[in-house]
Amino acid sequence: MKVCVIGSGGREHAFAATLSRHSEVVVTPGSPGIEGSTAQPVTEIDADLYVVGSETPLVQGLADQLRSEGRTVFGPGADGARLEGSKAWMKRLVETAGVPTARYGSFDNDQTDSAIAFLSSLAPPYVVKTDGLAAGKGVLVTETYSEAVEDVKAKLSGAAFGDSGRRVVIEEGLSGPELSLFAFCDGAKAVLLPTSAQDHKRLCNRDLGPNTGGMGCYSPMPTVSAADLDEMMDKAVHPTVEALRKRGVDYRGVLFAGFMVTADGPKLLEFNVRFGDPEAQVILPRFEGDLAETLFQVANGDLRIRPTLSNDAMVAVVLASHGYPTAPQTGDVIHGLEQAREIEGVNVFCAGVASNSQGELVTGGGRVLNVCGRSTTLETARELAYKAVSVISWSGMQHRTDIGASIGIDHDKEAVT
Ligand code: AMP
Ligand code: GLY
Repeated sequence: MKVCVIGSGGREHAFAATLSRHSEVVVTPGSPGIEGSTAQPVTEIDADLYVVGSETPLVQGLADQLRSEGRTVFGPGADGARLEGSKAWMKRLVETAGVPTARYGSFDNDQTDSAIAFLSSLAPPYVVKTDGLAAGKGVLVTETYSEAVEDVKAKLSGAAFGDSGRRVVIEEGLSGPELSLFAFCDGAKAVLLPTSAQDHKRLCNRDLGPNTGGMGCYSPMPTVSAADLDEMMDKAVHPTVEALRKRGVDYRGVLFAGFMVTADGPKLLEFNVRFGDPEAQVILPRFEGDLAETLFQVANGDLRIRPTLSNDAMVAVVLASHGYPTAPQTGDVIHGLEQAREIEGVNVFCAGVASNSQGELVTGGGRVLNVCGRSTTLETARELAYKAVSVISWSGMQHRTDIGASIGIDHDKEAVT
């Protein structure tokens, strides 16, 4: 089978590396760090299967366009991608489907007074979300009422996120550990990838500093059992797929569900319509069997393979460029990548890399490399990842030193910034 992966980041690199075990793979536009990359546009690539990596093209209807040309696509059409593209739409859908989720209100830009009145009816922490896509940066969680009010005003006026923010969702604040699960959905049914993952979204150790796209993650979470995952599938994922079907949405791709495990049980925080980044980097390499064949069955609306994953644990540490997330500096030469890759049990995926005029690999974005350790336990996977991190460097490289530390290790070292 020939597979075309669409995207250029660490998630797409992990897709390409896993798919290439059984299939020919091209990646468009890819990057100088991803084997099989091509500058050819997707419409000029003849493949048996197209895998769309990120949410923006899905929300914009790329999967619909490719399907209308007769191609087989892993990824929902624009109708299903609204689950991620509009939080207000998603909340309404899951509420109708009876999924446990935070109480909420949704407000348009001419409803600032009602939005503030709703906010004042809630207890802290206050949660204010932009309705549309905001690259993981559209959510404010704060204990301070006045900050929440200012955020509502900035979002609704368009000052904060342009049109993506001109509708907001205000939610009741929940607390508890977060976890992500992933299910393949072939339009009719959803099938769990039997694992969990936890992301670390803040820039600095101990979950301090600004929000980012994700500074690292680990999988599986030792505190989450197979029965917990089944419960979340039953309470959240299956009812959502049924609600989509009732609305005529033929969702074919992955459903990435984010939960908070509260004292009242797990509550759905969000749905994403693509794999997590860097969650994909700690899950896809553990896929057993032919990933392309599995995705092909999903794309054809006929998933028969039951996905299985190795019991190994993986930890991914994100190495970010100087100035990330506000002003990432590009063009810094990356050292030590090949030595890191020589360590057994280590994978390094390229997220935001470019090459300079001497052909050297340089930083090309905010999140640059995903350094992954894989082993039989989380502790040893984590040690391997950090051993590999220690041989990689560039000017101003940033990373956290506590990825996977919620499993009980190393809370004390400060982030390297
Ligand atoms: P989302 O993009 O909706 O998952 O939100 C991003 C992050 O904001 C989540 O991973 C949580 O850490 C936090 N968050 C979202 N919704 C809530 C909520 N209702 N209560 C507390 N924290 C939340
Ligand atoms: N790592 C979080 C995300 O991909 O949305």
